[in-house]
Amino acid sequence: MTLEIIKTRRSIRKYKSTPVTDEQIRALLEAAMLSPSACNTRPWRFIAIKNREMLDNLAEIHPYAKMLKTAPLCIAVIALPKTQERDDNLPVGFYPQDCGAATQNILLQAESMNLGTCWCGVYPKDATMKAVAEALKTTADEIPFCLIAVGEKDEAPNQRGKFEEERITWIK
Ligand SMILES: Cc1cc2nc3c(=O)[nH]c(=O)nc-3n(C[C@H](O)[C@H](O)[C@H](O)COP(=O)(O)O)c2cc1C
Repeated sequence: MTLEIIKTRRSIRKYKSTPVTDEQIRALLEAAMLSPSACNTRPWRFIAIKNREMLDNLAEIHPYAKMLKTAPLCIAVIALPKTQERDDNLPVGFYPQDCGAATQNILLQAESMNLGTCWCGVYPKDATMKAVAEALKTTADEIPFCLIAVGEKDEAPNQRGKFEEERITWIK
C-alpha cells in the first residue's frame, strides 16, 4: 500500500453503473479480512449487495447514503461482538476498531483497483442500526457497522493535502 493510494482516495458520491465483478469483490474482502483485530478475533462478516432494489432501499433508510442510488455495489460490514466474549475478556469491546480497520482496508484496496468508495457510518446510530439490521435481516447478535458504496467513479474530487504539523507531538 503506497502513500499515493492513500492520498488519491476520496469519498465518491456519484457512480457509473458498470458492475463490480465477483472477483473484484473477493479482492476487496480479502483485504478486509487481512486487517488487524484484537486478539485476532476477526469480529466481522460482510454482505455484498448488488441487488438494485436492496441498494435503493438502503439509500432510503440510511439518512446519508443517497449515493447508493447510483452505486452498483454496497458492502455492509457487520460486527460480531460476541466473538470477543471469552474467559480472559481481553478482546471484549474492540469490535468497532476492528471493523473500522477492515473498512479502511476495503477503501484502500478499492482505490488501488481504481474503484470509488464511500464509507457510510451506521454504528453507533441506534435508528440507522435498527433500520439496516431489519433490511439486511441480521441476527440479534450482530451489529451493522457501516455500509460502503463501491463502483466506478463518476466524479473526480481533488486530492487534499491534510498533513498538519501542529497535530504532532514529538517525544524524542
Ligand atoms: C465513520 C464515518 C462515517 C461516515 N459516514 C458517511 C455517510 O453516512 N455519508 C457520507 O456521504 N459520507 C460519510 N463518511 C465520509 C466522510 O464524510 C468523508 O470521509 C470525509 O468528509 C472526508 O472526505 P474524504 O473521504 O473524501 O477524504 C463517513 C466517514 C467515516 C469515517
